[in-house]
Amino acid sequence: MTPRPTGPARLVVLVSGSGTNLQALLDACADPAYGAQVVAVGADRGGIEGLARAERLGIPTFVHRVRDFESRDAWDQALTGSVAAHEPDIVVSAGFMKLVGAGFLERFAGRMVNTHPALSPSFPGMHGPADALAYGVKVTGCTLFVVDDGVDTGPIVAQTVVPVEDDDTVEALHERIKVAERAMLVDSVGRMAREGFVVDGRRVRIG
Ligand code: GRF
Repeated sequence: MTPRPTGPARLVVLVSGSGTNLQALLDACADPAYGAQVVAVGADRGGIEGLARAERLGIPTFVHRVRDFESRDAWDQALTGSVAAHEPDIVVSAGFMKLVGAGFLERFAGRMVNTHPALSPSFPGMHGPADALAYGVKVTGCTLFVVDDGVDTGPIVAQTVVPVEDDDTVEALHERIKVAERAMLVDSVGRMAREGFVVDGRRVRIG
């Protein structure tokens, strides 16, 4: 992705829940110097705080529930169409709890990032904080990566380490990871938007 010659980079953000990562991006985008704007927010379910955060700012939203489509492929096509309609430079999956399909990936190849609450390649999947705690690691953290067709396997943009405390619960650990995750997301997406980035094999280079 090369930076836009004029105006901020266009971000479409996908969410499934509370949307605190989205909120961190929205707050950052309020400063024109950040170099990006959230032009739409999409979700795989309605009635979530993530969508409400966008609606309160008058940002367009869309919802596609898998169960409303006859096939996963049809859902993927609808999602692809809605995201494409907003002409994003970068698609940000921020707590979006669905894997996108081949059509979506083809359309947005190398331009979609996802944040994962573990240090890849450890603990991929839906339960990163719980799996890290169960394993007994002393440090875990978060990973921002360019989405590929695997589960949390794509080329890594950034990682932040979070120590595990002796008396941690899954919830407490995940909350501390999310603090690190929001800072990592805001910092990296801003630099990607302002400086552009290239994906070269497993390496992601910003600027
Ligand atoms: C984040 O930890 C994300 O990595 C994980 O779910 C959490 C989403 O949090 N998949 P929020 O919706 O941004 O508050």
